Amino acid sequence: MAKIIITGGNVLDGEVQISGAKNAVLPILCATLLAETTISIGNVPHLHDVTTTMELLGALGVRLSVDDKLGITVEPTAMVETIAPYELVKTMRASILVLGPLLARHGHAEVSLPGGCAIGSRPVDQHIRGLIALGADVVVENGFVKARADKGLRGGHYSFDMVTVTGTENVLMAAALAKGTTVLENCAEEPEIVDLANCLAMMGARIEGAGKNRIVVEGVDSLHGGHYDVMPDRIETGTFLVAGAMTGGRVLARRTRADILESVLHKLEEAGAHVNTGDGFIELDMRGKRPKSVSLTTAPYPAFPTDMQAQFAAMNCIADGVGVIRETIFENRFMHMNELQRLGSDIQIEGNTAIIRGVERLTGAPIMATDLRASASLVLAGLVAQGETTVDRIYHIDRGYENIEEKLGGLGAKIRRVA
Ligand code: UD1
Repeated sequence: MAKIIITGGNVLDGEVQISGAKNAVLPILCATLLAETTISIGNVPHLHDVTTTMELLGALGVRLSVDDKLGITVEPTAMVETIAPYELVKTMRASILVLGPLLARHGHAEVSLPGGCAIGSRPVDQHIRGLIALGADVVVENGFVKARADKGLRGGHYSFDMVTVTGTENVLMAAALAKGTTVLENCAEEPEIVDLANCLAMMGARIEGAGKNRIVVEGVDSLHGGHYDVMPDRIETGTFLVAGAMTGGRVLARRTRADILESVLHKLEEAGAHVNTGDGFIELDMRGKRPKSVSLTTAPYPAFPTDMQAQFAAMNCIADGVGVIRETIFENRFMHMNELQRLGSDIQIEGNTAIIRGVERLTGAPIMATDLRASASLVLAGLVAQGETTVDRIYHIDRGYENIEEKLGGLGAKIRRVA
C-alpha cells in the first residue's frame, strides 16, 4: 500500500498553484446529467473522487471524454441507466448526488446508500425529504434509495432540518427541472453551492439566493450544455497555508480566492501569520516565527470549516500555548488525534472537544491515515516532526488533494511517495 515519507524540519518557502475544488466539481459533474446538449467542465482537479464520479456516470451510460488539461466533456444521452450500484457508490458518499438529477430528468433513480469517510453516520434523510417535497415517491429498500416521479417533479417548499451541503445540492439540482416554483429554506451557504448554481444558471436554470439561507428556483422545461470552469479549492488552499504557518515559512497560493476563506485566514492571523491577499492569490508569511495556538469551533459556512479542523489541530500541536478545538459537524472526526499523539503531541479529548497543549517539537514515527482531511493533517505534522514520518494508507489523501507531494516538494518539503 502506498505511503508518504517525510523528513521534517524544512521551512516552506515558495509558490503553489491551487487546483479546482473537489466539493464543487463532484456536484457539477452530477449536474451534467441534466444537460440536453454537450457540456464541458474545466479546471477539473486530478483526484480519485473525480475518477470515481466519472466511472459512476459511465456506468449510468453517459459518454465522457477527458482532454490533456483534464477538462471533461459530457455528451448528451437520451437514455441512461438510472440505477447507481453499490460497488461504485460505497467508496464515495458524494455519489448520492446523482439521485436528484436522475430523478428530475428521467423520473426514476435508484442509488445505493453511500459509504465515504468513516467520520460519522452521515445519513441522507434530508436529501430524501427534500425530494419528497418536490412530489417524488421515495423508499429505502435493500440498501438502495429508490425514487420515482412518473409525472415529473413539481415545485415545492422544503425547510432542511439541519444544514447539509450535498442535501442542498441534490434538491437544488432536482428543483431546476421541476414544474413551478421551489422554495428551499435553511440551506447550506457554502461557496461550492454557489458554484453549482452558477453552472446550472449557465445551463439555463433560474435560481435565486444560492449562497444564502433561502433559495428560490423557477423550474424550466430543459437544460442545455455549454462550458463551465470549476472554482478553486478553498480547503486545499487552507491546507498549504497552514503548512507554511507550521514551518514558520512563506507560502504564496495562486489561482485561489481569499473571499471564500475568511474564517480560516482570520485564524491564521490569530496564529501570528502575516496574510496578504489580492486578485487570485493569498500570501502567508510567518517570518520564521513559531505559531501561537488558536481555539476554534467548526460550523457551517461562513464559520470555520470542519474540513480544516484536522490541519489546525496539527498546527496547535507545535504552537505556543493551549488551543481548544470543538467539532460540531461530525461526531467521529478526531481520529487523527491518536496518530498525532504518536508523534509526541499533548492532546486531551473530552467528547467533541480536543484540548491541545503545544510542544516545542514533534518526533517522526510511522502513522496511519484514517480519512481524507485527517491524512492531510498527518502529512503537515510530518513536515515539522524531527526525523522521518511515514504516513500509511495514503490513498485517502488522493481522494481530495492533487499531487500533494509534488506541490509540497515544490515549496521545499522533503517528501516522497513509496509503493
Ligand atoms: C459536505 C462536504 C464535506 C464537508 C461537509 C461539511 C462534499 C462532497 N462534501 O459533505 O467535505 O465535510 O459537507 O461541511 O461537498 N446530515 C443528516 N442528514 C442528511 C444530511 C446530513 O443528518 O440527510 C448530517 C450529517 O450527518 C452531518 C451534517 O448533517 O452531521 C452535515 O453534513 P453534510 O453537510 O450533509 O455533509 P456532506 O454534504 O456529506
